[in-house]
Amino acid sequence: MSLANRNLVTIDNISNGEIEALFSVADEMADSINEQSGLCQGKIMANLFFEPSTRTRLSFEAAMLRLGGRVITAVDIGATSLAKGESIADMAKVVGSYADIIVIRHPWEGAAKVVADYAGVPVINAGDGSHEHPTQTLCDLYTLRKERQTIKNLRIALWGDLKHGRTVHSLIYALARFGATILFYPGPGLEIPEHVLKRLSTEYKGELQRCGALNQELKGSVFPVDAIYMTPSSPHQLTMLPDVNIQVELEAGVDALYVTRLQKERQSPTAEQQELKKNYPVVDKKLLTGKEFKKTLVMHPLPRVDELAYEVDADPRSMYFKQAAYGVPVRMALLALLLGAKDVAIPKADDSFARKVDYPVYKRDSGVKCLNRNCVSNQETETKYIKPEFKIVSFDPLTLRCIYCEHELEPQYIASSEWHQGKLENKKYHSANSHWVRKIKPENLIIFPSEKEAQAHQFKPSACNRQ
Ligand code: CP
Repeated sequence: MSLANRNLVTIDNISNGEIEALFSVADEMADSINEQSGLCQGKIMANLFFEPSTRTRLSFEAAMLRLGGRVITAVDIGATSLAKGESIADMAKVVGSYADIIVIRHPWEGAAKVVADYAGVPVINAGDGSHEHPTQTLCDLYTLRKERQTIKNLRIALWGDLKHGRTVHSLIYALARFGATILFYPGPGLEIPEHVLKRLSTEYKGELQRCGALNQELKGSVFPVDAIYMTPSSPHQLTMLPDVNIQVELEAGVDALYVTRLQKERQSPTAEQQELKKNYPVVDKKLLTGKEFKKTLVMHPLPRVDELAYEVDADPRSMYFKQAAYGVPVRMALLALLLGAKDVAIPKADDSFARKVDYPVYKRDSGVKCLNRNCVSNQETETKYIKPEFKIVSFDPLTLRCIYCEHELEPQYIASSEWHQGKLENKKYHSANSHWVRKIKPENLIIFPSEKEAQAHQFKPSACNRQ
């Protein structure tokens, strides 16, 4: 299998074996960074950065220039025709006719997928809202592999804004896939979204533990009262005793502490934001004296604000500037592979920590919509051509996952399209919790967000829905 002409929109677009292969190319690039200028000669990369960036944008540019290619750039939506109301799809088609590869950062979740759907050239997601940032995850995994040789069975603590941090969302799935144990340490009010946790428990073979009551010793330590963590599939001896279990994890030491800043650009500037800022957890020298951090790599995707003290920079455990520097060889490898300028054998990797699930797809012009206001499918300029589309990830309860932003919703009402046919009296809607959810074939399923909407489409309540 080759990586040529592929997209990297989410970390799930690249397998464990392909990541290993990419890292071997990145090693080559790092070893002879000045000798790669023949690889992408004549190729053009379009760098579309519609949110601020230092590392991702400049390391992509440096990577393409090191490979001998050229770069065209747009960095401000206001200076592009998007500001005149052009859709992302039209922009993607046009830019795809100017460049051989597109790198896009955009504030809307799912925007990179739309670009990939329409550009006709490989597209790399450089961050779409709070959704994902897969190339940052490649840099993070590369750093872990360089320092610890393997990711399997490492204990990685994720720290800070786990709600809005796109880097952690991509990283979580990758760590789970490689068999790491993940410990979540969110700032108050910044917990990992439920849809991410749900996905961890259904698609990855680990055990998700929620520890409601930690013992006294642990309450004062790094972990909050409501700790959550996930262990890979190998059975844990103490699995029935979660608070003892997390103690065992901590006593074994944390291999990496992945610190993230408060994503203030994803929140409205309210008193609540001041509160989040005031209570945001800080990593400093004192915290790192804890015995669980003796050999901990301190990581951060950067930029940092107040959550990581400058005094840690001189500590040999600090990894964040190395992580940023690895951005160039890792992105050189990615560009060379997606442009087909480099071929690499894909090693057989351990994929046993993830479950491959082929979910049925739900797509209709009207009815249920994604509830995430920041999803690309809900933006006025895009609704003219984007139809809501979901994966049906569960029938009990009925759960849909938006194919753009991957947020989930549990709609309450369903009907079957088979009943339309000339028999108005048969147009009935049902509760999504009834047996009908399994009886109606997925291709005939109509899902409504409310009874009002079902009735607006001339459906009548079935017996179980009548008051
Ligand atoms: N890590 C990261 O995405 O940094 P930038 O926002 O500076 O690109």
